[in-house]
Amino acid sequence: MSASLSRPRVGVWLIGARGSVATTVVTGCAAVAAGLHPPTGMVTETPAFTGSGLPALPDLVFGGHDTLDCPLPKRAETLTAGGVLPPGVATAVTAELAAADREIRPGGPTPGDTRSQAELISAFAADLRDFVHRHELERAVVVNVASTEPASHRPDAPLPASTLYALAALRAGCPYVNFTPSEGMHHPVAAGEAARSGLPHAGRDGKTGQTLLRAVLGPMFAQRALSVRAWSGTNLLGGGDGAALADPAAAAAKNAGKERVLADTLGTVPEGEVHIDDVPALGDWKTAWDHIAFDGFLGTRMILQTIWQGCDSALAAPLVLDLARLTARSHETGLSGPLGALGFYFKDPVGEGPSGLSEQYEELLRFGRTLGQGEGEGQREGGGGGGGEGKGEGRDAGSVSGPEVTGEAR
Ligand SMILES: NC(=O)c1ccc[n+]([C@@H]2O[C@H](COP(=O)([O-])OP(=O)(O)OC[C@H]3O[C@@H](n4cnc5c(N)ncnc54)[C@H](O)[C@@H]3O)[C@@H](O)[C@H]2O)c1
Repeated sequence: MSASLSRPRVGVWLIGARGSVATTVVTGCAAVAAGLHPPTGMVTETPAFTGSGLPALPDLVFGGHDTLDCPLPKRAETLTAGGVLPPGVATAVTAELAAADREIRPGGPTPGDTRSQAELISAFAADLRDFVHRHELERAVVVNVASTEPASHRPDAPLPASTLYALAALRAGCPYVNFTPSEGMHHPVAAGEAARSGLPHAGRDGKTGQTLLRAVLGPMFAQRALSVRAWSGTNLLGGGDGAALADPAAAAAKNAGKERVLADTLGTVPEGEVHIDDVPALGDWKTAWDHIAFDGFLGTRMILQTIWQGCDSALAAPLVLDLARLTARSHETGLSGPLGALGFYFKDPVGEGPSGLSEQYEELLRFGRTLGQGEGEGQREGGGGGGGEGKGEGRDAGSVSGPEVTGEAR
């Protein structure tokens, strides 16, 4: 992406860089930066964040890891044919897509990969450091948008790929965002390293559709003292995400986050389950149906049903851009540890923040103001992230910020 060389540039390193969400992120950022489309869906482009000191969209440089080798412009063409990207946009930003494509490195582990876990972490971290160094980036944020991994509860299981990437991010001195339900930084091995690293991190699992609605409706039932008896949901979706979630263990990881929102907002876990069906014909379009059985005055029984029909990547991409900018700025101002104030974006947020969307939004606005006050503080003398092995440049959350800005301090 072209940018003024005098302004500091920030890397966005996407794990799963050739996927639907990642391709939409790169295409969308270039299209908005070029003024081809308004930044619809990007909360960080609203006036409330004008003074937050966030990196500008033209100053973002994209790269990443993937285990596939389909070129990004080709992937964007497929998304255009599927109606995910509007006609003409991918062609208009083909130079930016090609530039990002040149920065995608082979991920892992691939089938038959003979590298040890330590070797994989070292290779991923070396790719990141090389990216930061060659582009003279001020810092780089690692964002996981790779396929959802099946949850494993075996104590002797090898570290999941998402955790190898999270460890590589820490090793390369990069803040980290987990947009997926995969374990990533939640794994005990990574959690300990993260605490020692002094780097900020956020997650997990972007809240884009059904759970977004639940985070609004859950508080409504609680505040109106209505008694929810059962909350059931079904999702129909295709695309790569639909195929990955056809695995019951991967779907279980996803559904845990959806159920947490209800438990947190209602105070109880109502009856009912969430099902995810892979319907390849739907591509990136998801239909999510919720059926809520509740009791009113004198026990009168009632039902609310909602149907959400969304284009998953178009919902996710602006959030990924918001998160990359907010996390980069958090790193710049010296924040470290879990960024609980970003709970607005996640199904299963790190830290102890509120669960209702309205309170989460207020918290995000406070956080945006805090980031603005952090202007000039900081970490620039250390050269930002991405420079060295486990540098741990950030300050402890407690020594930098008020309690509202990190989950762990609340
Ligand atoms: N779109 C949404 O609304 C939304 C919301 C929340 C979370 N998510 C999550 O975002 C992720 C991406 O979704 P998508 O629709 O882009 O899926 P996708 O299948 O189109 O893309 C996933 C990409 O990850 C790559 N990948 C798989 N294993 C990898 C590895 N070990 N290393 C590097 N790359 C690897 C795949 O090759 C693929 O290119 C999923 O985990 C999904 O659950 C999406």
